[in-house]
Amino acid sequence: MTVEEKQHQQRIQIPFDKGWPLLGMLPPLLKNIIGTFSKMARNHGGLVAFRLPQDRGYLVSDPQLIKEVMLSGEPKFPKGKYTKRMEAVFGGGLITAEGANWRRQRKLLAPIFSNESISKWLPKINEATERLLKQWNAYVEAGASVDASALSRIYLQDVMGEIMFGNDISKEEASKAAEAMTIVNDTLVEEFFRTTVLGSIGRLALTPGARRFRRALHEFNRIVDNAIRNADKGEGDHLIAQFRAARFADTGSPMTEKQFRDEVSTFFFAGQETTANALAWALYFLAKNEIEQRKVAAEARQVIAGAAPTWEELGRLTFTRQVVLETLRLKPPAYAVERRTSSAVDSELRGCPLKKDALVVIAPSVTHMNSEAWPSPEKFQPDRFEKDKLRDRDQYAYIPFGAGARKCIGMNLSLTELTIAIAMITREFEYSVSDGAVVSDKTGLTLRPFPEVPLTLRRRSRAGSATADQS
Ligand code: HEM
Repeated sequence: MTVEEKQHQQRIQIPFDKGWPLLGMLPPLLKNIIGTFSKMARNHGGLVAFRLPQDRGYLVSDPQLIKEVMLSGEPKFPKGKYTKRMEAVFGGGLITAEGANWRRQRKLLAPIFSNESISKWLPKINEATERLLKQWNAYVEAGASVDASALSRIYLQDVMGEIMFGNDISKEEASKAAEAMTIVNDTLVEEFFRTTVLGSIGRLALTPGARRFRRALHEFNRIVDNAIRNADKGEGDHLIAQFRAARFADTGSPMTEKQFRDEVSTFFFAGQETTANALAWALYFLAKNEIEQRKVAAEARQVIAGAAPTWEELGRLTFTRQVVLETLRLKPPAYAVERRTSSAVDSELRGCPLKKDALVVIAPSVTHMNSEAWPSPEKFQPDRFEKDKLRDRDQYAYIPFGAGARKCIGMNLSLTELTIAIAMITREFEYSVSDGAVVSDKTGLTLRPFPEVPLTLRRRSRAGSATADQS
C-alpha cells in the first residue's frame, strides 16, 4: 500500500477497540488506566475509538491531532461530564468553568500568576525549602531513611499554605488538608467509574470509598473556610488578599463570594498534589541515576552563590530544569485530560466525522512515550531538553501542562518550586533508593509514586561525594 493509500484509509476509518461485551474498555481501564491507553495507542495508532457503559470515547495521542483538539477548544471540544464531577471539589473554579465565565475568570486571574508575581513569592519558596532541608538533615542525624513522597507533600503544603494564606493557616491544618486531598484524589476516579457504570444510582451508593471521599471533602472544606476567615482578618500579601482585590475589567467588580471560595479550593488543591507528585518522582529518578544527580549537585554549587537561589540564578539552573521537564515527560501528574465532542456542533479528526457528545481523552502519559518524538522513551534522559534538541520536536508531543488557551495557569510557579527544591536538596545530600524498595504508579486524579519513595541519604561533601553514611 502506498503512503497516500494508507493515509486515505486512515482518513475514512477510525480504528475501534471493542473491549468487553457491554462494558467496553471499562474493566481494563479500571485495572490499569495508563497501561490500557498505552496498549490501545500501540495497537491502533494516534486516534482510536472505544466504548464505555453509557459512553463513547476517542483516545487522541497523535501530536498533530492533539493540537487540533486543544487549539479548537470550545464549542467543538469542550470539557466534559467527568470534569464536571470535579465540581464536587472545585465548584465553578477555573478548572471546571466553561464558556464566557471561564474566559472572564482566566483574564482576571492570569496576572496574579505572572512571572513578576512568582519572583515576589521567591522568598517564601526559599524559606519553605530551608525548612524542608532541616527535615532532611534531621533524618540524616537520626540515621533514618526519608520518604521523599511524604516530604514532598509537606513541602508543597508549606509553600502553598504560605502563598495562599500567609501565616494564617497552621502547619497542622495544612497537613490535615493535604491528607484530605490525597483521599479525595484517590477516591474521585473510583467515584467517576462507579457513576459511569451505575449512573445516578452510583452517586447515591454508600460504598466505603464514597464515604471516605465525602468525609475527606468535608474536612478539606472546613480547613479552607477557617483559613479564609483568618486570612481575611489579617493584612498579608497572600493569594487570598490578591483574589479579594482583583477586579473584572468589564464591570470593575470583584468576584462573588461563591466564585472566590471556588477559586481558593481550586488553587489550593491544584497547586499541591500535582507538584508534590512531580517532586517525589524527580527525586526518585535522580536517586536511580547517579550521574545526573551529580550533575545537578555540581550545577547547584556552581550557580547558587548564597544560602538560596536568586531569581537570576534560578534562570541559570539549566540542567536541573531539564531534569524537571524529563520527569514530567515520564510521569506526568496530569496523566490524562478530558474533552468531549459537542452535542450540537459537528467535529472531525483526520477527515473522519466523530460521534456527537463523546469522550475525547488526551493522555500525556501515552503521547510522551511516542518513540518517534522520544527515542528510547522509557529512559530517563534529561538532555533531551537541551535547547538545540527542541527545535525539531513536535511541540504537541510534550503536554504535561496541557495546551492552548486552557494550558495550566500554575505552570511557571510549579517549575520554579520544583527547580529550587531539587537543586537545594541535591546540593546538600546524596541519595539512592533504599534497598528492596519497589515503587509503582498510583493513578487517582493525578499520577503519584506508590506506596512511597524511600531514600537512603547522606550529606554531600563540598567536593560532591558523600561525607558520612548515616543510613
Ligand atoms: C507539575 C505541576 C502541574 C501539572 C502537571 C499541571 C497540569 C495541568 C494540566 C494538564 C492542565 C490542563 C487541564 C486541561 O486542559 O483540561 C492544568 C490546568 C490548570 N492548572 Fe495545573 N498543573 C500543575 C501545577 C499547577 C499549579 C501549581 C497550579 C496553581 C497554583 C495549577 C492550577 C491549574 C488551574 C487553575 C488549571 C485550569 C486552567 C484553565 O482551565 O484555565 N496547576 N494543569
